[in-house]
Amino acid sequence: MDKPHVLQMGGYPDFDMGPLREHFVLHALHEAADRAAFLAEVGSKVRAIATRGDLGAPADVIAACPRLEIIAVNGVGYDAVNFEAARPRGIRVTNTPGVLDGDCADIAVAMMLALARGVVPGDAWARSGDWARKGPYPLQRRVWGARAGILGLGRIGTEVARRLQGFGMQISYLGRSPRDVPWTFVADPVELARHSDFLFVTALANASTRHIVNGDVLKALGPQGMLINISRAQNIDEAALLDALEAGAIGGAALDVFEGEPKINPRFAALSNVLLQPHVGSATFETRRAMGKLMLDNLVAHFAGQPLLTEVL
Ligand code: 8YV
Repeated sequence: MDKPHVLQMGGYPDFDMGPLREHFVLHALHEAADRAAFLAEVGSKVRAIATRGDLGAPADVIAACPRLEIIAVNGVGYDAVNFEAARPRGIRVTNTPGVLDGDCADIAVAMMLALARGVVPGDAWARSGDWARKGPYPLQRRVWGARAGILGLGRIGTEVARRLQGFGMQISYLGRSPRDVPWTFVADPVELARHSDFLFVTALANASTRHIVNGDVLKALGPQGMLINISRAQNIDEAALLDALEAGAIGGAALDVFEGEPKINPRFAALSNVLLQPHVGSATFETRRAMGKLMLDNLVAHFAGQPLLTEVL
């Protein structure tokens, strides 16, 4: 049987490319010099789009592929897939939930600790000779026993909360409804921020969560409060966040995601009360292998006429 043609939206690690090439004819849109010309040339052959959480599938690409049957996301977030374009045509969408929760929770906890204890500037203090020149590193903020808020108690939020229990933290969460968990349910984001020394944003991004962390939430978090975002930039009003950080209206922010990433607002780089990460929540060998396999397995199942493993319904 002829291999199905797959449009690739972005790069994957080498360990994914071999298996993908074995099963499919790949067309790398991200390597095309002229995107429109490339789509005009290959679009009519394409039966699947292989993409990533950060890239999704925009309407113009979906429209350029009249035989498209499936969009497979290597990532849990599918907010960048244009469902208005895909759904009416019965195009199926898969993502990679479950396999990345632990890594995303690990980085969230690492970011909290690094921000609160000044781990990155502390490293620079030791390396640069400031330690010998200026003396002991300035005192930092305690983490254990503090109040944590989890905005979005899905799989990843739950893994964050479980880890924070180990730090003896008092945990509150915002979700759709109270859950059978030993943590305190709070129905409103401003209330959650008021109850938090460390506010974690772990919610999937959709129209209802856009700018859920707004100026009012930041005000409630207050000058001692710290924000950790490992979800999507659009869950936070980034302009309001930058204003709050510059004014010292919140204590600090640890961010893995940014509007317009990988190009980030230069105002962030000038701040000393932030910890910045280049969207690395799931970026370990182990997890990226599991994500790549799950995306591939979904594509293979689709073309074999078998049930999809992790379809977004
Ligand atoms: C990466 C992500 O952007 O899972 C997600 O939603 O944001 C990520 O893990 C990327 O999709 C990895 O390929």
